[in-house]
Amino acid sequence: MTIYDKITPEGTRDLLFEQCDVQNGITGALRKLFEEEGYREVKTPGFEFYDAFASKTDYYPQEGLYTLPDSRGRLITVRPDSTIPIARMTASKLRGHSLPIKLYYLQDVFRRQPEHSGKNAETLQMGMELIGAAGFEADIEALGIAARALQNAAPDKFRIEIGHMGVYNQLMSGLDMEPEDKILIHRYIAAKNYSALNDILDSLSDSRSATILSRLPGLFGGAEVLAEARALMGDADPALNNILQDLEKLFQALSRDNPFGKVIIDFGLVNQADYYSSLVFRGYIEGSGVPVLSGGRYDDLLSDFGENIPAVGFALNIDQLTNARLRSEFTGDRAEDQAAVSQPDPDKLRIALTKGRLEDSFIDLMEEAGFDCSEVKSKGRKLLLEVPGANIELFLAKAHDVLTYVEHGVCDIGVVGKDSIAEFGGTYYEILDLGIGICRFALAAPKGKDFYSAYDAKVVATKYPNVANRYFEKKGMDVNTIKIEGSVEIAPLVGLADGIVDIVQTGSTLKENGLEVVEYIQDISARLIVNSSSMKIKKDSIDSFSKKLEEVKE
Ligand code: PRP
Repeated sequence: MTIYDKITPEGTRDLLFEQCDVQNGITGALRKLFEEEGYREVKTPGFEFYDAFASKTDYYPQEGLYTLPDSRGRLITVRPDSTIPIARMTASKLRGHSLPIKLYYLQDVFRRQPEHSGKNAETLQMGMELIGAAGFEADIEALGIAARALQNAAPDKFRIEIGHMGVYNQLMSGLDMEPEDKILIHRYIAAKNYSALNDILDSLSDSRSATILSRLPGLFGGAEVLAEARALMGDADPALNNILQDLEKLFQALSRDNPFGKVIIDFGLVNQADYYSSLVFRGYIEGSGVPVLSGGRYDDLLSDFGENIPAVGFALNIDQLTNARLRSEFTGDRAEDQAAVSQPDPDKLRIALTKGRLEDSFIDLMEEAGFDCSEVKSKGRKLLLEVPGANIELFLAKAHDVLTYVEHGVCDIGVVGKDSIAEFGGTYYEILDLGIGICRFALAAPKGKDFYSAYDAKVVATKYPNVANRYFEKKGMDVNTIKIEGSVEIAPLVGLADGIVDIVQTGSTLKENGLEVVEYIQDISARLIVNSSSMKIKKDSIDSFSKKLEEVKE
């Protein structure tokens, strides 16, 4: 038996000495800020009944929760979030309390993460909730405190971003479509996946709402975005008009009263907890690849617990802030460590390019777009390569690693096949279909053999078990998938599997091995993916790079 008595579970860690000092310094300053603003501390239990989170499964899919039975067999869930428990607590313990109620908290949340993703399963969050207050004054109070909290954590190196769920909800309410398509539209807007969004919206007859929806992910930036939004949807309907006015007022107040950080508006900001009903916002700091603050207005959440009270709040990711502070505080001996790590240059774009098939065609595309790729082409053993005159740094990596580098924010941009995106998922923007590396996912089986015949559960070999499982789940078929690392076509020939799910480009590998396509599953091509924080902090350089490629792609 293996005894795990010297390590901590994946996604957790010990904090020692200066790590604790830095963390305490950050939370101490935030505590002072919240208390000065009249907020009082609350704590909720580490675990709650699953029922408290059950109606929110869109945001907390079961796979992400730590759930177990209590002593009476009732399901309990280790807290994945603090806002829902605080709503539950307010609707019960604080029922009848005079409004508004101003609360803050400092506690861990726990979310199951994919194995080896390097993401924390336990995250320390500190946040505030302003309960029983609606309207501009309350929103600006929450946003103002958020800006001061960020200024405290990352002086002059942060951005606050605001959006509004009402725009998306209003436009979607008029569309007659299947629920699955609505989920896809939500996902594509959140991921700034312009091409997939356009494909699905092109098929709709309500062209006015569809046109506006298709523009939402690209509507982000400064004050100019508000003018663009007004031109696009200002006269569409009164509800949208009101939302635009509210956002404009908030944007102006926030830009005026918050001289430290630049304010961004993003009409495509829809990928937050589904309890947010109108205003949504996020905070980014330089050097952190993921948002460090996220919040919004959740006017309907308390009614899930029987109290119809509006509320707004946000949570800060204390672990991210602590890491960013520790990184910027290298001193003494550790200066050497710092020199050894190539720190992301705030003005430079760092690109991870998938090795192999995509490599040459992407370099051709870059050259066509006017970039000097001589160093990349004659790279030798050098790993980090410069694109002279463009302030771009490029390196080659395996497809899955490209996703990891971008998701963690050590790379701004990745060039990777849709096959890897479909298989591994992740949180990043997928902004451009590059039109190279075109192929398809297919189910294939030995020629002449009916894959669907007989009742026995089929065995399928694949490099893409998640794609294959999703495909067969949709068909309602029980299939056993076996993960194979390469040359998958051999598996049915030697009797390991009945068929394969794999990439087909020319079809010659299948043909030469006596296999044929049973069904095509999905089109694949290379995509430009972008770290969500870089997209906001380096918008101009990323836009310009992507536009240059878009102009030359086929
Ligand atoms: C891919 C894929 C197929 C082949 C299809 O493999 O897994 O085997 O290409 O291409 P075709 O339709 O043009 O014949 P890859 O060359 O990447 O190598 P691998 O099988 O070792 O992963």
